[in-house]
Amino acid sequence: MRKLSTLNSLLLIATCAPGLGIAADLKAGQALHDGKCVSCHGSEVYTRSDRRVTSVESLRQQVQRCDANLELGWFEEEIENVSQYLNATHYKFK
Ligand code: HEC
Repeated sequence: MRKLSTLNSLLLIATCAPGLGIAADLKAGQALHDGKCVSCHGSEVYTRSDRRVTSVESLRQQVQRCDANLELGWFEEEIENVSQYLNATHYKFK
């Protein structure tokens, strides 16, 4: 029984944060994204054929760049949540 719940927790962490090893809050990421990130571009930039983001790491950097440009002053955790949200919904990097 105890083994099973440990396994479940591990699976939960693995599915919630692909490639990053920490559990991100995708709902919070979505709320931040929908509030601040849709005035210039919709989701088409995330799926365009010549998209610039090619890995989890460059996705995080791009979110950081847009955050800096907009002077939102997001915390690392917020950057992480939004990166994970975009990865889960569009980029799907492992
Ligand atoms: C002031 C306008 C503006 C806002 C607001 C904005 N962006 Fe962007 N974003 C851009 C532009 C312009 C590009 C395209 C850059 C390019 O073509 O290389 C871009 C590209 C991106 C990309 C890369 C798409 C690719 O090629 O894979 C991501 C990811 C992204 N933005 C995330 C965000 C996030 C997250 C936010 C909210 C913090 C945000 N953007 C808000 C202007 C904006």
